[in-house]
Amino acid sequence: MARQPALGQHAMVVAQEPLAADVGLAVLKAGGNAVDAAVAVGFALAVTYPFAGNLGGGGFMLVRSADGRTTFIDFREKAPLSASRNMYLDTGGKLTKDSIVGWRACGVPGSVRGFGLAHQKYGHKPWAELIDPAIQLAAAGYPVTYQFSQSLIAGTNSNKLLSQFPESKRIFLSSHYGDTLTQPELAATLTRIRDKGPGDFYEGEIAHKLAAAMEANGGLITLDDLKQYQAVERTPLRGHYRDYEVITSPPPSSGGIGILQMLGMLDGSGYEKAGAGSAASIHYVAEAMRRFYADRSEYFGDPDFVKVPGTKLLDPRYISSRRASIDVQHVTPSQQIRPGNLGPYESTETTHFNIVDSEGNAVAVTYTLNGGYGNGVTVPGLGFLLNNEMDDFAAKPGEENMFHLIQGEANAIQPGKRPLSSMTPTILTHDGKVFMVLGAPGGSRIINGVLQVILNVVDFHMNVQDAVDWPRFHHQWMPDQLYLEKGISPDTVAILRGMGHKIAPYENTNPVVARVEAIVNDNGWLQGGADGRGNAKAEGY
Ligand code: DON
Repeated sequence: MARQPALGQHAMVVAQEPLAADVGLAVLKAGGNAVDAAVAVGFALAVTYPFAGNLGGGGFMLVRSADGRTTFIDFREKAPLSASRNMYLDTGGKLTKDSIVGWRACGVPGSVRGFGLAHQKYGHKPWAELIDPAIQLAAAGYPVTYQFSQSLIAGTNSNKLLSQFPESKRIFLSSHYGDTLTQPELAATLTRIRDKGPGDFYEGEIAHKLAAAMEANGGLITLDDLKQYQAVERTPLRGHYRDYEVITSPPPSSGGIGILQMLGMLDGSGYEKAGAGSAASIHYVAEAMRRFYADRSEYFGDPDFVKVPGTKLLDPRYISSRRASIDVQHVTPSQQIRPGNLGPYESTETTHFNIVDSEGNAVAVTYTLNGGYGNGVTVPGLGFLLNNEMDDFAAKPGEENMFHLIQGEANAIQPGKRPLSSMTPTILTHDGKVFMVLGAPGGSRIINGVLQVILNVVDFHMNVQDAVDWPRFHHQWMPDQLYLEKGISPDTVAILRGMGHKIAPYENTNPVVARVEAIVNDNGWLQGGADGRGNAKAEGY
């Protein structure tokens, strides 16, 4: 834990794949603003980081302009119009794998519309200039890195997934470490998007080809689904933690309410006095996590379909009552924690990047195919992978999804609805200026990863690189397990066990609590923290 942050006096990019980070920096140096750079990085990652970068997925972009204006661009996928509540149950009512693997797992993709909307409203540079670098990377190819090749070797889940679909197998499983991966079909698709605009993906030739491939393979997405898809702007959530304003992700993300609720439980508790990495501080934060995730299981869904009781969930009196139920010495077992009583209530492998430009505009983007390489399908002739975002719904309310999340009726499948997300792009400001920009992939662990990096900077005064590299932990109410990353001392683990925590063994779980990317503005010096858990790059100038 002794790496220096990347430094920049003007601008900074942090992204999970170095070639895409370079694309973003080049756009900034050529006079593009943070949104221009974000769009260019988004398209580049679709080529250089097919694990999660995408045209066939969706996500969120949080923007804070230097003048203080903010927006949240929601380009989350939607359930196809022919989707239905029980579509992933077999005749015996059991959950199938169809929400995870193959054509039927795909929600209507939003990324191309999202980048189109962001560029049209907030970008300066010509659209074509932002896609050209991605076209170049797809057409000329790039060397397959160690990390990329390792994610594809025989025996890995990704290899098993992609082997099932001939086009994916042909494109991704034939290249090895050091080979040049070219993607001519993807280059052609990107060229159409460059020349015809984002509309081609939703109404033009790309849309027709995608809809025809869906029909031929038992997928649900039709031309109508694509034509109707719109990215939308929503108002970001705002709250305070100590001297900072926190600007974060509203529903259909559960993350922003989660961050604000957990910060609210911690604020004034004095938890930080025990020090970073101490059993007492881990315990207290884990108890706050457990309480938020219980609420997440019940109250959250697409705000266009269900009323998410955000005001009540963030009411300081409600948060105080949740805080008051935390025992500083002992675990409260999850069975004893229910989603909070809010009073009368009307029911009615992702990737993240951050950019700050020389004017002080800040952008945080998390977008995803959901699982690594999505549903495994590359659309023949179009060269891009499809998402399995339908698994983020409660395909059977009350039963676990891929991330072991239990979710409720508010997140049941309905045609045209967006599945609930944990993606949490977040920006902190101080004295009216951007102080911190961050976010992460990691499924249900995203919210807790983002929370801990904020705490490491604000409460434990770490520099941004230490803050992202520092070992993390995760509790999501159910299963009632505390997941610990490597690096937390065995003595601390023993104390936590003594308090009643059930510690998930490292071996039995993916031991990584999100890969968080962050930028901190340290009195005019931009510091970039690229999470050492992956192959990310932070670079500024
Ligand atoms: O939106 C969500 O919450 C998930 N689809 C995110 C998936 C993810 O982060 C996978 N990456 N590790």
